[in-house]
Amino acid sequence: MPESELTHWPVQRTCPFSLPAEYEKLRERSPVLRVRLPSGFDAWVISGLQDIRSMLTDPRFSSDRHNPGFPKIAEGLVAMPDFRASLNEMDAPEHGPKRREVLAEFTVRRMKALSPRIKEIVDAQLDLILRGPKPVDLVSTLSLPVPSLVICELLGVPYTDHDFFQTRTQAMISRSYTPEQRHLATKELLKFLDELVTAKVAEPTDDLLGRLVLKQRENGGIRHREIVELAFLLLGAGHETTAASISLGVVAFLKYPEQLEKALSSPEKMFDAVEELQRFFTIAEAAGARVALEDVELGGVLIRKGEGVIPLSNLADRDLGAFENPDTFDIDRGARSHVAFGHGMHQCLGANLARVQLQVVFESLFRRIPGLRPAIPVAEMAFKADSEIYGMHELPVTW
Ligand code: HEM
Repeated sequence: MPESELTHWPVQRTCPFSLPAEYEKLRERSPVLRVRLPSGFDAWVISGLQDIRSMLTDPRFSSDRHNPGFPKIAEGLVAMPDFRASLNEMDAPEHGPKRREVLAEFTVRRMKALSPRIKEIVDAQLDLILRGPKPVDLVSTLSLPVPSLVICELLGVPYTDHDFFQTRTQAMISRSYTPEQRHLATKELLKFLDELVTAKVAEPTDDLLGRLVLKQRENGGIRHREIVELAFLLLGAGHETTAASISLGVVAFLKYPEQLEKALSSPEKMFDAVEELQRFFTIAEAAGARVALEDVELGGVLIRKGEGVIPLSNLADRDLGAFENPDTFDIDRGARSHVAFGHGMHQCLGANLARVQLQVVFESLFRRIPGLRPAIPVAEMAFKADSEIYGMHELPVTW
């Protein structure tokens, strides 16, 4: 292996708009490479878009975190014996029926119907921003509250508990926390949701979790723990990812005003812009980590049964063979083949919900505050380089 090739992973992003320098060296060949993780584990990283797509649709790769070969990134972080994050950690044949149980809640039509309510939520946040002092941090006033309010309403979780679940989610995905802190955060969130589901079983409410309780009661009995774990997955995946995309999207639009102008010219263009933003930032880079259940040949390399694989989706979404000028933020490119929402049977269940929220947020924000600009240079802003979900700690803006 040449000296310059990647030997350790993760690598940190130093510029939000560019690939890490370590990835640049891999772009010509898109290799499958063996790397050392901070946990001391070795795993394969996959860097080409096609290889990632084929890995993510290959049933010989499993999402089971309890398999001892599953790539453990952080030191000491082991799967908790009595917990798994619902669909995200299920394989076939278990996964399909469980996903279908909630799929109807996330259809394009259902999400579009939510759009007016999302607009109300966004407008209320913008009213607060416009009434408050300048400069303002957009993360705490818009990026985080909007998806948190939306997912709370959808699931039937009280928004008054937002500090509690937002801080626990932060701890779980940030590499700056110790494994003990991450386990504690997981346990606390599970306890909170366990009590919530108990209340919904006693008195089902008209929301996703309440409807699931009724459905299971009709079809053979309530699977309490399963509902708690699904709520855990949806609440966590539902707010932090979208919040990160809102903040990064705002920064990109401020940097590329001609793309913003195009995006605001029609709902179709805004739809394309949101898709391109997903490709450009690919925030959940390693979400598709798996473990091989058999020996598999991939990208000219033999991956043995029990070995872990990590897709470098951020790199793949800038694959030179798949996208023309991949480092350019270009909303007209038709970016649909990206893997920022994953691919295959685990492809993001909330992708349509995220898309609708992002479209409404960008349209409303830039129409109501057309003079929006960064309050400090973007290079001085705090990006989440230490997190499993890339994003921003703060986004100071003024107008
Ligand atoms: C799965 C990214 C928003 C719920 C995934 C996966 C990715 C992803 C990459 C695939 C994981 C894998 O292959 O193992 C994103 C991004 C989002 C976003 C970038 C926002 C911009 C959401 C929202 C929700 C959500 C808003 C909640 C409503 C889920 C669920 C899964 C998932 C439930 C697991 C699906 C399954 O295993 O069948 N997401 N997500 N996501 N996401 Fe998202």
